Amino acid sequence: MKNKAERKDRLKLIFFFLKGAKAFFAVSILSAAVSALADMISPQIIRMTIDNVIAQKPASYAPVVMRLVNALGGFAHFRTHIWIVAAAIMCVALVKVISQYTFRVYNTKGSETLVKTMRDSLFGRIERLPFSWHMKNKTGDIIQRCTSDIETMRSFISEQMTGIFRILIMLVMSLIFMCSMNIWLTLVAVIPMPLIIWYSLRFHRTVHDEFQVCDENEGKLSAMVQENLTGVRVVRAFGREKTELDRFEKQNRYYTSLWVKVAGSLAGFWSTSDVLVGLQILGIVVAGALMCIHSNMQPGEYVSFISYNGMLIWPIRQLGRMISELSKASVSVERVHYIMKSEEEKDAPDAVDAPMTGDIRFDNVTFAYENCPEILKNVSFTAESGKTLGILGGTGSGKSTLMFLLDKLYDLPEGNGTISVGGTDIRRIRTQCVRSHIGMVLQEPFLFSRTISENIGITNDGLTLSDIREAARDACLDEAVTAFSQGYDTKVGERGVTLSGGQKQRAAIARMLTQKTPIMILDDSLSAVDTQTDAKIRKALEKHFGGSTVIIISHRITTLSRCDRIVVLDKGTVAETGTHDELKDAGGIYSLIYQSQSGLGEEAEA
Ligand SMILES: Nc1ncnc2c1ncn2[C@@H]1O[C@H](COP(=O)(O)OP(=O)(O)OP(=O)(O)O)[C@@H](O)[C@H]1O
Ligand SMILES: [Mg+2]
Repeated sequence: MKNKAERKDRLKLIFFFLKGAKAFFAVSILSAAVSALADMISPQIIRMTIDNVIAQKPASYAPVVMRLVNALGGFAHFRTHIWIVAAAIMCVALVKVISQYTFRVYNTKGSETLVKTMRDSLFGRIERLPFSWHMKNKTGDIIQRCTSDIETMRSFISEQMTGIFRILIMLVMSLIFMCSMNIWLTLVAVIPMPLIIWYSLRFHRTVHDEFQVCDENEGKLSAMVQENLTGVRVVRAFGREKTELDRFEKQNRYYTSLWVKVAGSLAGFWSTSDVLVGLQILGIVVAGALMCIHSNMQPGEYVSFISYNGMLIWPIRQLGRMISELSKASVSVERVHYIMKSEEEKDAPDAVDAPMTGDIRFDNVTFAYENCPEILKNVSFTAESGKTLGILGGTGSGKSTLMFLLDKLYDLPEGNGTISVGGTDIRRIRTQCVRSHIGMVLQEPFLFSRTISENIGITNDGLTLSDIREAARDACLDEAVTAFSQGYDTKVGERGVTLSGGQKQRAAIARMLTQKTPIMILDDSLSAVDTQTDAKIRKALEKHFGGSTVIIISHRITTLSRCDRIVVLDKGTVAETGTHDELKDAGGIYSLIYQSQSGLGEEAEA
């Protein structure tokens, strides 16, 4: 942990997660305390039985204890009624059983509530984090932070934190009983304690870094598995199974070696602290035995003293475990905190809801992704309201980037030009307003593992099947879907495995069409369909486009030729703008592409 402020932040985060679980943990802590108290009473009963019942030594206990003993008939009476001693032990055991049961039940309730809050908060935060954040972070690593790191935090809070109170009670009460019995022997027990505690704390610092490296590498391993599952087709198609397996095995071997190293450190710590604890116990056993021999201590006191010493040593030893668990948990808190402290998408304070129906204007837009060279340089063009604008350009020329900026998926920094809709800079329009008015078919359409109708109707909960079918018909998808045995209820795989590339694109188009937004963007969305279907879809789309501003990005001249205006992008700058008729003979990039595709174009138009 780097500084105080960060530590405070993390503590705040834990308290935030604890909301709703505090009452459960309070009951479980109380129960743990009662159970610890019950533990404290048993050695006293044994001590009395040995010294006062069996050996008949005179008794001098606290008045309240003496009153209770006398009420039950006195120590002499217990000699002939030993069942009273047995009943006392049973009562203490019963209290312990009930308190342990309550502890477990409430501790589980508390920890499950805690985990639920953590999961909800993390998922909520991830949903609200900017697109650029998701592009920067590996999915597998994020998943690991939301699963295994949460589990580590849960186990620390439910198993260690609630135990603190039990440990404190046992520590304090043991010391009180031990001092009351023999102050010198208590000193013998306490003197080695600072050494054991110091050793534990020193170990904590070392092992914290080792746990951190382990967690980071577990994240890498998860990311590898996740990527291989997502990219299973690439792996199979290129016969990369062996290479991927080798990569995985290498990372897995490294990860395993890290845990072996941590286990080595832990084993070293436990063995050394075992020796220290063993020496402490040895001191008590020898010193106590000598005191008994020289009649400075009663045998019953000696036996119960050793029990209390065990209870004193147990928390001190637990401290070591707690510290190593704390190391692990603090690494997980750091990793979860990374997500929770990441800046959410935020609107400018003066952001408003604008109608989003006017002209879309890119004015001198210059843009570079974080730590990357400039992608767009002084790009200026206008997509007139209600008209269709085509964008043509080589791969990597920045076409999709332009659309991401328009949809506010990336922020255009101040001073890098402006993007405006109806004259209002989109920086001053609420993000939610911008996105809800833009229907976009992404270049790589993504389908959820749900039914086709759910995938198309994802834009609006109130859509009926006939709305969905109408959109699918216009996207030339209806025929293909009705051919499936389960029709619109057909489940598509994680990435739409059961649909072909073209069908996926059409499902994404249908999804956009259900929205009826004033701005529609098709980013290379007809690339995976044949030219005839392309023409058919375009015709059907024109019906929908009435009044909407449409931006079509494509590599196909036939797709763009009917646009009211076309912008040709070249390496991040605007090379030409004009209508199809103006550009096709202008001798620029457009006419070159037109000539190379003209055979194809004529065929499609026919
Ligand atoms: N998240 C990102 N971080 C860094 N660089 C990026 C990112 N996304 C895209 N780029 C880079 O920006 C450039 C423009 O990408 P963009 O996707 O806008 O191109 P495009 O014109 O849509 O290409 P295509 O026709 O292949 O779809 C490319 O060089 C690409 O490598
Ligand atoms: Mg693109």
